[in-house]
Amino acid sequence: MTEKAREYEVVLWGATGFTGSLVARHLAENYGEGLAWALAGRNREKLEALRDTLGLPDLPIIQADSGDRASLDAMVARTRVVCTTVGPYARYGDALLAACAAAGTHYCDLTGEVQWMARTIDRYLATARDSGARIVHTCGFDSIPSDLGTWYLQEQMFERYGEYADEVKSRVGKFSGGASGGTIASMMLMLEEAVDDPAVREALANPYSLNPEGEQWGPDELDSNQPQYDADFAQWTAPFVMAAINARVVRRSNALAGYPWGVDFRFDERLLTGAGARGKARAAGIGMGSQLTPLVMGLKPLRWMAGRLLPAPGEGPSPREQRRGHFELFFHGRNFASGNALKLRVSGDRDPGYGATSRMLGEAAVCLARDNLDCDGGVWTPATAMDGLLLARLQASAGIQFDILDD
Ligand SMILES: NC(=O)c1ccc[n+]([C@@H]2O[C@H](COP(=O)([O-])OP(=O)(O)OC[C@H]3O[C@@H](n4cnc5c(N)ncnc54)[C@H](OP(=O)(O)O)[C@@H]3O)[C@@H](O)[C@H]2O)c1
Repeated sequence: MTEKAREYEVVLWGATGFTGSLVARHLAENYGEGLAWALAGRNREKLEALRDTLGLPDLPIIQADSGDRASLDAMVARTRVVCTTVGPYARYGDALLAACAAAGTHYCDLTGEVQWMARTIDRYLATARDSGARIVHTCGFDSIPSDLGTWYLQEQMFERYGEYADEVKSRVGKFSGGASGGTIASMMLMLEEAVDDPAVREALANPYSLNPEGEQWGPDELDSNQPQYDADFAQWTAPFVMAAINARVVRRSNALAGYPWGVDFRFDERLLTGAGARGKARAAGIGMGSQLTPLVMGLKPLRWMAGRLLPAPGEGPSPREQRRGHFELFFHGRNFASGNALKLRVSGDRDPGYGATSRMLGEAAVCLARDNLDCDGGVWTPATAMDGLLLARLQASAGIQFDILDD
């Protein structure tokens, strides 16, 4: 489908938020006036104040509110891509998705809200296919490193051995960073919805809930809270907080690509906690915490109390915490029949949730706007929409490296 001419390549909606302003800074520093882009949000004064800090006095501003569909329709008609950080997405995201799907405007976001994605994939897929809009969720720490890491490992397996891995394990190594108010609000909303709505509980209980309808099954089970020893890494492992979204996205990538890695492909993601008795005890402690958190946060008074103590919307880790932050994920792929195996490390030189996430989202938006992608309209994952083109951008401009480890 030929792309319609639009005034802007990228509109950044939610630019005034904690993560949005970091994305704006990334685009300003890396593309500046070389990109046709605009800042968007609901509050003009805040947008102007942000623009004053970017050194781009002519950068256009667009006012659009999630509750005003006409303002969203007008915004999406002017751009090839809308990049949104307006969350919680389950609260504010539907109208924008509907507008983009209808107008053939490409879209990327930072949602990790499985229940919302499970709802909206069905709702907007047909319209996006008709209009040519490429909708890509999860373009931050969840789930680009897991999704593109698995894709790249599989490409390298095929190049070296002429076969794919039947199983990929993602293991989270060292990382440092904090959470923002917007992320906490999104997690709270997911818990609230799970308490009230059986369909949400169903989406969270099925490891394949993001697969296409009729294909929501496979060999993987929900993550175990028990400590597990991983002989390939010679360490104990615990559940990882983002695995619930990352693993579903990787499984969706395999399904959308037509199962190149097999219908029985297995994927899991866990946190490395070290060797020996200390590693096991740490894994047990984290496992217990993961089991208790949803139970405790399911209680309204405790959610209210946590809301008072944790960062509020607009707040998050300091610039120093972001600069000093980093992350490291290891992947291990194995083909069971041949025994061939390969290891990969994906690493980032900023805190995963904000410093690195904002660069990933900015690069995903530019990739959707400029690169010659091999996919039609639809609801895609980062790997199925942008694969190696996004990977190259992340390595060049986002401080994220993908390295095969030859033992
Ligand atoms: N996947 C990941 O790795 C990852 C990482 C970071 C964040 N996130 C997600 O990204 C989202 C944003 O997080 P954050 O910490 O940046 O949140 P935040 O600081 O609260 O920012 C939210 C943004 O949404 C805007 N907004 C709120 N209501 C709106 C409405 N009705 N219409 C238009 N705009 C509206 C806010 O505008 P005002 O400034 O005018 O209030 C602000 O710009 C959250 O859902 C979070 O979970 C995901």
